[in-house]
Amino acid sequence: MAFPAGFLWGAATASFQIEGATTADGRGVSIWDTFSATPGKTLNGDTGDPATDHYYRYADDIALMKRLGLGAYRFSIAWPRIQPDGKGKINQAGIDFYDRLVDTLLENGIEPWPTLYHWDLPQPLEDDGGWPARDTASRFADYAAVVYAALGDRITNWATLNEPWCSAFLGYALGAHAPGRQEPASSVAAVHHLLLGHGLAARVMREHAAQSGYELNLGLVHNQTVVRPHTDAHADVEAARRIDGLRNRLFTGPLLHGAYPEDVVADLAGITDFSFVRDGDLHEINQVGKLDMLGINFYNPSWVAGSAEGIPASALEDGENSHGGPTPWVGAEDVVFVHHGFPQTAMGWEIDATGLSDVLLRLAEEAPGLPLYVTENGAAFDDEVDQNDGAVHDTERVSYLNTHLRAAHSVIESGVPLHGYFAWSLMDNFEWAWGYSKRFGIVHVDYETQQRTVKDSGWWYSEVIRSGGIPDTSDIPGRP
Ligand code: FCB
Repeated sequence: MAFPAGFLWGAATASFQIEGATTADGRGVSIWDTFSATPGKTLNGDTGDPATDHYYRYADDIALMKRLGLGAYRFSIAWPRIQPDGKGKINQAGIDFYDRLVDTLLENGIEPWPTLYHWDLPQPLEDDGGWPARDTASRFADYAAVVYAALGDRITNWATLNEPWCSAFLGYALGAHAPGRQEPASSVAAVHHLLLGHGLAARVMREHAAQSGYELNLGLVHNQTVVRPHTDAHADVEAARRIDGLRNRLFTGPLLHGAYPEDVVADLAGITDFSFVRDGDLHEINQVGKLDMLGINFYNPSWVAGSAEGIPASALEDGENSHGGPTPWVGAEDVVFVHHGFPQTAMGWEIDATGLSDVLLRLAEEAPGLPLYVTENGAAFDDEVDQNDGAVHDTERVSYLNTHLRAAHSVIESGVPLHGYFAWSLMDNFEWAWGYSKRFGIVHVDYETQQRTVKDSGWWYSEVIRSGGIPDTSDIPGRP
């Protein structure tokens, strides 16, 4: 099972999840610093310190990437390191860190794939209203201009936002992510201002690229998934339409087609009238922000039903169903999420790789020719270092990666322009509200000693990269 020549193999991380050093060298405070320091917001009160101490260990981490054979590294840039107040004053020491990171990657033959915003909004901007406030989109463009001017000479592939669905709906509706607000109308305004921020950032980056002759391949990372009706009953099909609207089409509508989907706007009529959309905004998002590529983060498919009636309580997905409480699914509070009997990861997410192929096939049809990348894919399991041989035998993760890579391979065979794959994550890290309790890495991190141990999945993935195909999962080639 060979992948096309030139297929890009990478691994991904995000600034707040790995860097630590949250007060070093002039870094400002982000909404995740504030949120994680608030009692009860993260499991065990975990915060972004010291995370995996990557701010100081980046050179060793890059050496490890090289050892694994990674062709690309997807990371994010911490806005509060670049502009501690979220606007105005630039912190040169913050830029210097990413300068060193990028240079070291390039010296090691690893392509840097930065994302400008992976959720660590500078707190002062949240104090001014956060993403529900239009001004934040302009501040984001200013920040993008600063970063691009500093690093654009060495980096071709850029993503503006990571998973704006999470920023908007987990941050401002469910409140389980920073900044922890529970304001349905604000969450929809946040969607628009995030997308507008993408467009405004694209404008300044493209202008800079044109003037300086830099090559720029600009995209955005979206966590599109497949939403399947629990049964073919009308109420379930309708539930799937609504959740697909909120999770997928509310984003691909403006980005790929220049309009918010009419049915989603109608579904949300009781929440917001979309009066935050001004003339020209959709042009900015869809034309100026036209995607050169789209990154897809995929973990699991969803099954939904119109109501819980007749569904055993044990089949209802706890984390997704609001039971009358706050929910990210604004305007669709009555929809329930149902387990379909697949094995689950430590997150309780069901493992079904056909979800990945369905997502990619749909996007290839919806946006013909648009280069696609899987920018995150992976799974959390309760890994342990084996006391006998010092290895981490994460057989379930090997199997997860194996089935999902096979799904990726199958869609390439059917003509989908999928050009690369990034495992989430390079190493165990701060998994947001779950703190350090959920391990997604292909490299294990001992948080007491900061020791890195490549897991079996890491060695297996390394062999995928080396051979350009999918090896057997029964032995783990490469493990010393
Ligand atoms: C995605 C996030 C990433 C990580 C994985 C598990 O939603 O982009 O930071 O937390 O989920």
